[in-house]
Amino acid sequence: MKEDILLMLKNDTDNFVSGQNISDKLGVSRAAIWKYINQLKEDGYVIESVSKKGYKLISSPDLLTSEELSSLLNTNYIGKNIIHFDSIDSTNNKAKELANHGEGEGTVVFAEEQTLGRGRLGRSWVSPKYKGAWMSIILRPQIDPYNISLITQVGAAAVGKAMKDLDIDVCVKWPNDLILNRKKVCGILTEMSGELNQMNHVIIGIGINVNQDLEDFPSDVYNVATSVKIEKGHEISRKILVAKILNYFEEFYSDFITNLDAKNCLRFCKENSILIGKEINITRKDETFIAKAIDLNDRGELVVRYHDGRIENLISGEVSLHGFYGLI
Ligand code: BTN
Repeated sequence: MKEDILLMLKNDTDNFVSGQNISDKLGVSRAAIWKYINQLKEDGYVIESVSKKGYKLISSPDLLTSEELSSLLNTNYIGKNIIHFDSIDSTNNKAKELANHGEGEGTVVFAEEQTLGRGRLGRSWVSPKYKGAWMSIILRPQIDPYNISLITQVGAAAVGKAMKDLDIDVCVKWPNDLILNRKKVCGILTEMSGELNQMNHVIIGIGINVNQDLEDFPSDVYNVATSVKIEKGHEISRKILVAKILNYFEEFYSDFITNLDAKNCLRFCKENSILIGKEINITRKDETFIAKAIDLNDRGELVVRYHDGRIENLISGEVSLHGFYGLI
């Protein structure tokens, strides 16, 4: 009901919408409308109420809800179904649970805050309330699980292109980070459920540090992580950024699954790579090897050349720029 009232107000932002009109259309009492309007105000909507005239929506908050995002999306299936939480342990956990219960391709789970956000390699992901974009997309690609790492590249390219549209000059750090001014601003966690040659579902979890201040980062990530706000010096709209990401995501992902062609997104990742052309450290178990990153191939693998001339295609792994003490 709250959502229906909001929609009526959004559809007529130039005028007051009378309580009687809402009551007739939605079949609720005037007292109930008053209660829902107060809830909307608590959610951050600024609504003018004038007796005998009704209610007028003055402004909407920067929330990652379907009400705020749907008008900004031009997708056919990504984000058509949005599931939003004020607070949750991890959007990847929730998306996995929903996918296991049959939730369809393109559903996106958002949380304003994660209490147990997860990163790669069992790390945690700090996800303070209203400050970032914490989201997970449910996908059901009918592709060989061998190709799954390309989905991470699709995500990285979508986030990167969206940020560049907003004048945020990010680089892609293969395989799943975005870097802004030499610090990590976004991480991607892709998780798959399936058999050896049969994919059940894929969850692509994207975490973007958008509007955090320095003090929002714990001391152990302070040197390596940043937010768009810290680097740009002002807040940006999370909903505009996220809608752009989902729009680009559908474009790249559809290309990938229908034509098995990830060239467009790979081109973006390659052109904006922070690693290609540089010496990098490759960490395997307890050993570190130095090599030069020379290319990103059609399979989304990082092509590296060791000092002895040996070439290797990396499928995944921990890599960092050599000489930056593992910071990037
Ligand atoms: C990494 O860089 O290690 C990946 C970080 C991924 C974080 C995102 S936030 C939304 C989604 N839910 C999670 O618990 N993790 C991912």
